[in-house]
Amino acid sequence: MTSKDSFVSSVKESDLSEGHMKAVRVKGRSILLVRQCGEVFGVSNRCPHQSCELQGGVLTGYVVMCPCHGWKFDVRNGQYQEIPQVKLDSYRCKIENGKIMVEILKDE
Ligand code: FES
Repeated sequence: MTSKDSFVSSVKESDLSEGHMKAVRVKGRSILLVRQCGEVFGVSNRCPHQSCELQGGVLTGYVVMCPCHGWKFDVRNGQYQEIPQVKLDSYRCKIENGKIMVEILKDE
């Protein structure tokens, strides 16, 4: 079951400019926010390989490359490019009243 409105406020919209990423902590989770083509995406900030923080990586289009060993993930759905079974947790985001809101589902 999911809660109807499970969006949680994070940073101000102006804190994340187009083509950039920013790590935030929401409800105890470290989440990487990415703004690309006017949309905001959220994925886990921890690489599933050896737990490096993705925030120090390189963003190219919708792909973030881990700074440690170069694994690449699509920020739109968290998908690792090489192995279909490996994904980052991904979080829906929206902008409301100048704030970036991140959906945290309670049934995990
Ligand atoms: S920790 Fe991310 S690629 Fe190794």
